[in-house]
Amino acid sequence: MSAAIPELKQFDEAELDRVFAELEAEVSAQARALTSDEAMEAFRLEWLGRKQGRLGQLSAAWLKSAPVEAKKLLGVRFNKLKAQIEEARASTAATEARPVGAGLDVTLPGSAQRVGSEHPLVKTMAEIVSVFQRMGYSVGLGPEVETDFYNFEALNFPPNHPARDTQDTLVVAGQEGKPLRERLLMRTHTSPVQIRSMLEQAPPLRLVIPGKVHRNDAADATHSPVFHQVEGLCVDTNITFSDLKGTLDFAMKAFFGSAVKTRFFPSFFPFTEPSADVQISCIFCGGKGCRKCKHSGWIELLGCGMVDPAVFESVNQRRVEMGREPVYDTKKISGFAFGMGVDRIAMMKYGISDIGLLYSGDMRFLEQFA
Ligand code: DAH
Repeated sequence: MSAAIPELKQFDEAELDRVFAELEAEVSAQARALTSDEAMEAFRLEWLGRKQGRLGQLSAAWLKSAPVEAKKLLGVRFNKLKAQIEEARASTAATEARPVGAGLDVTLPGSAQRVGSEHPLVKTMAEIVSVFQRMGYSVGLGPEVETDFYNFEALNFPPNHPARDTQDTLVVAGQEGKPLRERLLMRTHTSPVQIRSMLEQAPPLRLVIPGKVHRNDAADATHSPVFHQVEGLCVDTNITFSDLKGTLDFAMKAFFGSAVKTRFFPSFFPFTEPSADVQISCIFCGGKGCRKCKHSGWIELLGCGMVDPAVFESVNQRRVEMGREPVYDTKKISGFAFGMGVDRIAMMKYGISDIGLLYSGDMRFLEQFA
């Protein structure tokens, strides 16, 4: 290897051309030998390295001591040399992927591209959503970290009300200094997005809301502290319980097959009145009774009801606070809502017996859905 800094006798044009031609010839020769990552890196360090790089050394040795009239001549030549170095690096990088004749063994197995696939939960959630999209529903989303106001208060769970105990909540630490309604928690259901949507939009409204929710539940075969729900909300003039029944019956038939029957039982949720639990005829035995349905012929699938006027009232109040019209007038409009657990539906559909498998990231499990 030649000296890091060639000898420069004087700063006239001919002498500069001579030394730079020497340097350029060296760069060209080296560029032809850049066949490995190691050679590339050594080349970069030799010329461009921050401490020992030759370009830096040349500039330190010559540029400073050059008489004013030679600085420009030097600068032009430096830039040209630097461009040549960059060009050598770029064109080598571009051809890197190409097999080099000498080292190519066509008998070696190729490197296989592994194709990804949708997670069974994501797939199930998308299928449920698309059933409702075909009925004219749009899709809404909301945050997984919520305030107490959206998750509970606006949904008619007053502070300290025992209904809160049905949703064992994971709260964000260090929130005690804030008023209760502003404290952060992990949303325990997708229902808060009902409130968020009604604050943003005036009726009529038809929405499905898929998403992840969290509860402080001990993990076992049917419980996970993280799970998924699809929420629904329909608000318009003349919406009745019959609309709710018809919509959910149609949706269950579209999702599970036209032979499926539905039935509605009285239930309780703070944000619906009346409330109902919905069961479908067992998809395994057709309703005759089997182990899967505990010999009842029915499987419980979701909660629903008519939107409680108290919910519209808190939406109106909050809208006024935000400077918006209180357009959820309970004399003119009504609505229904529903919420279902995606994990249980996916487990039923795919015959999965342990919910934990859905969150394990175990490829041997996931590959079965590819
Ligand atoms: N949010 C309820 C839960 O997680 C489910 C639910 C029930 C949602 C009834 C609704 C509804 O929208 O109307 O237990």
